[in-house]
Amino acid sequence: TKAHLTLDPHFTIGAVDRRLFGSFVEHLGRCVYQGIYEPGHPSADEEGFRSDVVDLVRELGVSTIRYPGGNFVSGYRWEDGVGPVDQRPRRLDLAWHSTETNRIGLDEFANWLSHVDAELMYAINLGTRGVLEALDVLEYANIRQGTHWSDLRAANGHPEPHSIRMWCLGNEMDGPWQLGHSTADEYGSLAARAARAMRQVDPDLELVVCGSSSAQMPTFGEWERVVLEHTYDVVDYISCHAYYEPKDGDYDSFLASAVGMDRFIEAVVATADHVKAVRGSDKEMLISFDEWNVWYQSRYQNVDRITDVQSWPEAPRILEDSYSVLDAVVFGNLLISLLRHCDRVKSASLAQLVNVIAPIMTEPGGPAWRQTTFFPFAITSELATGEALELKLESPTQQTDEYGEVPLVDAVATHDAENGHTAVFLVNRSQTEAVELTIDASSLGEFSGASATTLADADMHAANTLQDPERVAPAGNDSVSVEGGVIRVVLPPVSWTAVKVK
Ligand code: AHR
Repeated sequence: TKAHLTLDPHFTIGAVDRRLFGSFVEHLGRCVYQGIYEPGHPSADEEGFRSDVVDLVRELGVSTIRYPGGNFVSGYRWEDGVGPVDQRPRRLDLAWHSTETNRIGLDEFANWLSHVDAELMYAINLGTRGVLEALDVLEYANIRQGTHWSDLRAANGHPEPHSIRMWCLGNEMDGPWQLGHSTADEYGSLAARAARAMRQVDPDLELVVCGSSSAQMPTFGEWERVVLEHTYDVVDYISCHAYYEPKDGDYDSFLASAVGMDRFIEAVVATADHVKAVRGSDKEMLISFDEWNVWYQSRYQNVDRITDVQSWPEAPRILEDSYSVLDAVVFGNLLISLLRHCDRVKSASLAQLVNVIAPIMTEPGGPAWRQTTFFPFAITSELATGEALELKLESPTQQTDEYGEVPLVDAVATHDAENGHTAVFLVNRSQTEAVELTIDASSLGEFSGASATTLADADMHAANTLQDPERVAPAGNDSVSVEGGVIRVVLPPVSWTAVKVK
């Protein structure tokens, strides 16, 4: 089977924002406790943070980290998590039926972020709280000194403000599972009031309003329209959330999940542009795809939820999906979809970072390791710089139940005019056929060679586990050759590949 693509550095889609390589840390399961934080672990630093996890997060190449939720945030009182640790209250976490100790809060998390060199994206609670509490946490985080909350931060040992630029106005407020779930009209009105108030403190904040929890929500589309009619002038981004998993063993549809992501993004762009047109606005609404991943939600739904409210556990093992090669190929393809839309998707968060549907896993007192999904993220984050390019792709197709006829090969390329670096990211969605791909890169001018890294396995269900943490890793793809500006590479069945042009 053969496919062909042509790239030309003149045909650009848009600049690749570093914030596309963001992630998400929620107070959920073992993401914070036993994930990033485990005092007493052999690798823990004096603050109790695992340095083996810090090293892996740095290797992953994460830019911005959304915190502290997720569903958790809709019941959260941010001030529980600051001040003397021994005085912090233990609380019921209604979202995940857990007990929250509040050992880690805003100040500790901001400290941890400085170890991993990432930016904080902070979500406020608009589920059970409102404008005043949003102003309080903004004052605590960003005002230098001389006010109640900023002086309290300094007294808590943090004289420098955290200077948070990006703020999420609540989480998944369209979801019936969300504490404080409301109609688009109610939420849009509250989000607009919160945004206006926050901008009275600092007009330059970057604000994200909640879009839909998935494109399958019954209110999808209408939710975006109504919420944006309330908030268009006072927010910068609308969020998208999406999780993908195979249904009834239909791997062909699962392998085409990025087609679903493409359609989702394009529908939100169309809706935002409709609101723009109706308002006669010059402003372009951007997208923050601030939760995306493969997530075996059906597995979670089939597990007994911990229900006895008298004994909700601390940091339970929940949502600890183990990812296969197949999952990582779909995951790499989702990154391709995000890059392809980088003119409008300027921020994205892989949900989540450690233990909970995560690229990094840990054992208490034991090792930390990379899941299969770690690799496409780390490699794309490293190589995708400059601008994304429009490609001319000729690929055979296959029929899927969920998305109709889809190309077997999907691709995006990036080109960095500053240093001349070009990278092409590819997937082969076929379960049976290798694809011989030719890339006409002659428009790049002279280049001396190309190298490729491929993630594939004879067993597409292979995964990295505690027992075998290095079972799966990407490997150099020896099939690459270059002749007269044309690169040839063979893409094995169910594979993800990055080609670097030298
Ligand atoms: O990432 C897990 C959960 O998925 C988040 O808490 C929520 O926002 C979404 O439904």
